[in-house]
Order: sequence, then C-alpha cells, then structure tokens
Amino acid sequence: MRNLISLADLTPGQLARIVARAVAFGRGDVEDRPLSGRQVGVYFRKSSTRTRTSFWSGATRLGADVITFGPDELQLTTGETVEDTARVLGQYLDALVVRTNGDVEEMRRLGGSPDLAVVNALSLDEHPTQAIADLTTLSEHFGELAGRHLLVVGEGNSSGAALALAGALTPGLRVTLLCPEGYEVPKSTLDLVDELGGGDHQVRHITDPAEVDGPVDAIYTSRWQTMGVPKADPNWLAAFDGFCVDRAFFDRFGGPHTVFLHDLPAVRGQEVTDEILDGERSLAWRQAHHKMTAAMAVLEWCVVGTRD
Ligand code: CP
Repeated sequence: MRNLISLADLTPGQLARIVARAVAFGRGDVEDRPLSGRQVGVYFRKSSTRTRTSFWSGATRLGADVITFGPDELQLTTGETVEDTARVLGQYLDALVVRTNGDVEEMRRLGGSPDLAVVNALSLDEHPTQAIADLTTLSEHFGELAGRHLLVVGEGNSSGAALALAGALTPGLRVTLLCPEGYEVPKSTLDLVDELGGGDHQVRHITDPAEVDGPVDAIYTSRWQTMGVPKADPNWLAAFDGFCVDRAFFDRFGGPHTVFLHDLPAVRGQEVTDEILDGERSLAWRQAHHKMTAAMAVLEWCVVGTRD
C-alpha cells in the first residue's frame, strides 16, 4: 500500500505515470477491474460535490467496494486517536480517501499504517488529487506538458499549492502563480517547490499582474473564498480587484489557443465570468470529469501499482 498525501512525496516519473494513466482512463481504457475484491473507505469531514463522488464512482468502476463515513461517524470525533483509527481501519480497508480540516502532517499520522493507503482528498494546505486532475486535463488537451505555460490566478489556496508542487515535478512546465498581496501561496510550499525542483523548475510567484509573461497556454482560477470560509478582513475583496478572469483578463494574458480551467465550485461573477466559464475555451467541465479518472489512477497506484 502506498499513500498519496502530498505531491512532494512523488518523483517526477511517478506523477507523470499517474497522469498518463488518468488520461488513459479518460479514453475509456478500463480493460479489467484491478481493485476487484478491494475495500475503499471515503471519509469526508468537509463538504464536497466532486471529489467524494468521483472517488466513490471511480473506485466502483475499478471493481472495489466502497464504504463512506460522514464528518461525525468515526470515533475520532469522541477522542479516539488518529493512529488507533488507522490501525483498526487498516484491518478492514485497503485505502482510505480523506478530506480533513487538518494539515498534511495530521494526514501523515493517519497514513502511518502499512496496511492502509491514505489518499489526501484535500487538507488545509494541499489538494494533490485536484492537481493530478488538472495535469490530466492539460495533458489530454495539449499532449506534452513541456513547453506549456500555466497561469494560476487568485487565492494561493490548497489547489494553488498543489499546482506549484506539480510544476516543480513536471519538467518543462511553466507555472506562474498570480495572487493578491496577503493571499499568496505559503512560503513553506514555495520552499518545498525549490527543494523539489532543484535549480531547474519554472514555478514563479508574483502579486502584480503586470509581471505576467504572456501569452500563456492556460489560465486557471479557483474560488476566492476557499471552501466558503470567510476571510478575517471584512474588506478582503478589494485585494482581489483586477484578478477576475473576465474577457479583458483572458485577452490580456491569453492567445488564440489559450484554454481556461477552474477546479470548481465557482462563484460566477466573482473570480470568473459566465462568458469565460461557459465559453468554448473552457475546459472546466472536462476537468471535473478528470476528477474521476484522476481518482481511479490514484487508487490504482496506491493499492495495486500503476502499469507503465
Ligand atoms: N474541486 C473540488 O475539490 O470540488 P469539491 O469540493 O466539490 O470536491
């Protein structure tokens, strides 16, 4: 069993193979049911439309049986330790897909059992399976990722952090993170990016739109109030002025072949306009589909290993 808790735990080759497998699943290449006879638990402490359902559906398509747990259904809520929980669940389950309020380190404690593969389906600081779905969408559309330039605009949230790490692990992919001052990707993540990518990565973090070196191949945004959590500053919206992906933004930083991505859910009219989200350059709905192919590739890699 292998955990997928942070992209930082993967090698560039492992990430590329998982993405390639997700692209293949997107083509309908499910020749057998590699998780037949396996049990997958899905434990979400926070709301989800895409990730929970796509892991459930994806695991079922691969032949696994699925058990789901809501936020208050495990004895963790009454004080049982994370380690004891993992030790017990490892005797019933092959994998546990978890969305938590905690950080990656809490998830690592849950992933300490050799009998249980733990998948991070969103922690406070990273959304690794989202980035895998995003790279799958871009790979399917562009083929090679090397030489492409992805602009990630908006709050430096868990999706942005995961894309920064994915950029460090994907040779030749440029990732520019454009976040308003005060809402940047955390420095600890950017330090990890430097560590992972050595001197070679092309991940850049900026706060001034004038510094974007366009035209870019893809413009990506996500909800500014991540998980609907209110921000401390009641005037926070002012910091995001000029960061909405509308027609003017798209034309300023994009070119004739630029595509749009959004991890969803969207607040239409805030971080993106209807025209862009529903427009012909939008891959957001295909990206939502790839939540499932990415889930399948991740589960296969964690439980039985990915075929090359
Ligand atoms: N993108 C994403 O993680 O969506 P959900 O919160 O609906 O799972």
